[in-house]
Amino acid sequence: MDLFSYRDGDVFCEGVRLADIVEQVGTPVYVYSAGTIRHHYRAIIEAFEAVKPLICFSIKSLSNLQILRLLADEGSGFDVVSGGEVARVLAIGADPGRVVFAGVGKTDREINEAIAAGVGLFNVESEQEFENLSRLAGAAGRTVRAALRVNPDVDPKTHRYTTTGKKETKFGVDIERAERFFETYGRDDNVRLDAIHLHIGSPIYSAQPYVDAINKTLKLMARLSAKGLEIRTLDIGGGFGADYVEGQSPLAVDYARQIVPLLTGTNLDVILEPGRQIVCNAGVLATTVLYVKQGGERNFVIVDAAMTDLIRPALYESEHFVYPARLADGAQPPTRRPDYEAPDGIRVDIVGGVCESSDFLAKDRVLPVMERGDLLTVFSAGAYGAVMSSQYNSRPRAPEVLVEGDQWRLIRRRETYDDLFAAEQDS
Ligand code: LLP
Repeated sequence: MDLFSYRDGDVFCEGVRLADIVEQVGTPVYVYSAGTIRHHYRAIIEAFEAVKPLICFSIKSLSNLQILRLLADEGSGFDVVSGGEVARVLAIGADPGRVVFAGVGKTDREINEAIAAGVGLFNVESEQEFENLSRLAGAAGRTVRAALRVNPDVDPKTHRYTTTGKKETKFGVDIERAERFFETYGRDDNVRLDAIHLHIGSPIYSAQPYVDAINKTLKLMARLSAKGLEIRTLDIGGGFGADYVEGQSPLAVDYARQIVPLLTGTNLDVILEPGRQIVCNAGVLATTVLYVKQGGERNFVIVDAAMTDLIRPALYESEHFVYPARLADGAQPPTRRPDYEAPDGIRVDIVGGVCESSDFLAKDRVLPVMERGDLLTVFSAGAYGAVMSSQYNSRPRAPEVLVEGDQWRLIRRRETYDDLFAAEQDS
């Protein structure tokens, strides 16, 4: 579900015409729908009601402060993975006690900052990290709380670059080693280790890998309990899918239907770390056609957005639906599927202006005939879009706009050339 739709031939975000935003802000620009973000957040809360989870929105998927503020106002906590993300939580005045801190490579500085901030849960990923956390907490005279990130060795059947819960990834500690881990560190003076964290990959288009991972983890907990090591919290991580293709992803209720029965009656505090499912379809990238040209048999539509704005197609060959923001008179709105073919359309690749042949936004799409100046909408770009953008080729990053009803506001300005070299010494 999202609040982007074609109305009288134009793409609207909630009550605002995309072209009206573009007229003032230019392209490329990311546009987000506040209503869609709230809808998906609430859908997860409702679906998992029976286990009253703490939702920790995964900041890495969309980290703009205004979006974080919106989610904090909804009651969300946050999943962070760096000192910079902790700083974002502090910048919006959200409760650090409702923050979980993951990551295989936390530096001393990041750990010290998180201890000082009062981060609620450190998701520890190795023996050495645990010992370091204990040392730093002791030195700070603080007791902190930790979860062990367990690698349950399940296959989430997602892209190899976003699989994390199989053996031989760098993430977490093998489930076979977890028991020993709790025996060694479960009674530490500085770190209360009484939680388990799972995150098996992203996106995961079925509840089954979660079921497998949770079942393995519950068995581990029973073994630990027999040794007097009680686990109080289970953080099942993120990874719920979203519709890049209409109807592709299970909904929050579909995941919950299989996951909740495993957790009810366990007395565990449950944490979820969704990112993509909340924000993916809450954002689009608007871009303008610069040129059309042919190369051999192929037709290229060259646009002013590029891999620097949305790197997912180049990095994962992921498919985002791309279509004109204005339909020809009388034309029907498209179905949002990458294989959708516009009537009387032509087959094109939609590419950016960066000097890399992997710089494409979409390949082999049948679009209406495009002309210079036409506006295109790249859908499902809210998650891992703006946050993964770069200044490669010295391209200033795109601005971000948030729409609420029939109002919109700039929540990140377009970068300037000065921003490109502001951090560089000129001597
Ligand atoms: N928790 C942890 C520990 C994570 O590593 C992640 C994502 C999440 C939660 C949130 O996962 P989500 O609910 O958003 O699927 N750049 C890739 C995705 C990388 C995901 C990294 N970890 C992409 O564009 O598809």
